[in-house]
Amino acid sequence: MNAIEPAAVIRRARGRYGRRLLILAHHYQADEVVAHADFVGDSLELARRAAREKEAEFIVLCGVHFMAETAAILSPGKKVYIPDPQAGCPLADSAPMDAVSRAWELIARGDRPITPITYVNSSARLKAFCGNHEGAVCTSANASRVVSWALQKPSVPFFVPDMNLGLNTARALGIDSGRVLMWDPGLPDGGISPGALGNADMVVWKGWCPVHYPSFTREDVERLKRMRPGIRVVMHPESSPDTVEASGEAGSTSQMLSIIDTLPQGSVLGLGTETTMVRRAARAMRGRVEIMPVREVFCEDMAKITVEKLADTLMGLETDKGRVQVPEEVAFLARKALDVMLRV
Ligand code: 13P
Ligand code: SF4
Repeated sequence: MNAIEPAAVIRRARGRYGRRLLILAHHYQADEVVAHADFVGDSLELARRAAREKEAEFIVLCGVHFMAETAAILSPGKKVYIPDPQAGCPLADSAPMDAVSRAWELIARGDRPITPITYVNSSARLKAFCGNHEGAVCTSANASRVVSWALQKPSVPFFVPDMNLGLNTARALGIDSGRVLMWDPGLPDGGISPGALGNADMVVWKGWCPVHYPSFTREDVERLKRMRPGIRVVMHPESSPDTVEASGEAGSTSQMLSIIDTLPQGSVLGLGTETTMVRRAARAMRGRVEIMPVREVFCEDMAKITVEKLADTLMGLETDKGRVQVPEEVAFLARKALDVMLRV
């Protein structure tokens, strides 16, 4: 396929399917892909957009696999595709279902009620597990609301799989860090003694996103602040609590972009997240707001989606190539956990 062909193929598919086709893209997608999307958003917005879709018969999700799975769960009856099924997420993979079940057996054995909460960056089966145990899903945009909901039940949230989002959320809610237990899946019994569970206000799975941790550090933020006195810096909450503390502010990708809209002309903003999005925001705001990366880091999985693969997927919509399907018994329970998230 030469350079102009993908755009022509995509235009042809648009002409052929009209409103029967919906293309969704995450903020970390390349400009050439985003140019063809009907809607661009963070994980929460993509989930909401898929859930409310009425007309489309085909949804193509330009993002990573768990995002397409989430869209398939929330849009029963629609056909959902991903342009490259190999676009996974190492954070989601860090919590395989058998390891989480083993942890659950030990954690839920005590007399205090436990609520499993999974970050949306997780498998459909883990979401279903949460739905089956009166738990919920959250994203980086609403983790505080979902964890508060679990605390108010009252119960002890068991937060899987991103330790940094879990710890940043605990801190934002004023939970004493000494009462947050870390479950390390690499250690026998998670590395915690059953007695310690009785004093825990939250249990957090030791997983992380390699794009945001340990790449962004306190030193990066402090260097930027020294270089540009007065700069406002916002970190993605998948970064360490130490880095977030240095910046003073955390937000999901869409929350970062909303902050830009509120800034007066001539402001300088540092963003600590994936570089594709930061560069696009910097280009869009050139001459009005200066946007600086805290450090340049790319998500290799997001980059697997290309305009060529998008065109290929659109050509094969009537076959099951690239189609993401979730068995209904899994989707039913996962939807329960996602519905809590969309409600709170
Ligand atoms: P949000 O877009 O929800 O902030 O998530 C970032 C991310 O890492 C998605 O994988
Ligand atoms: Fe996964 Fe991190 Fe890439 Fe998001 S940025 S898809 S959490 S590896």
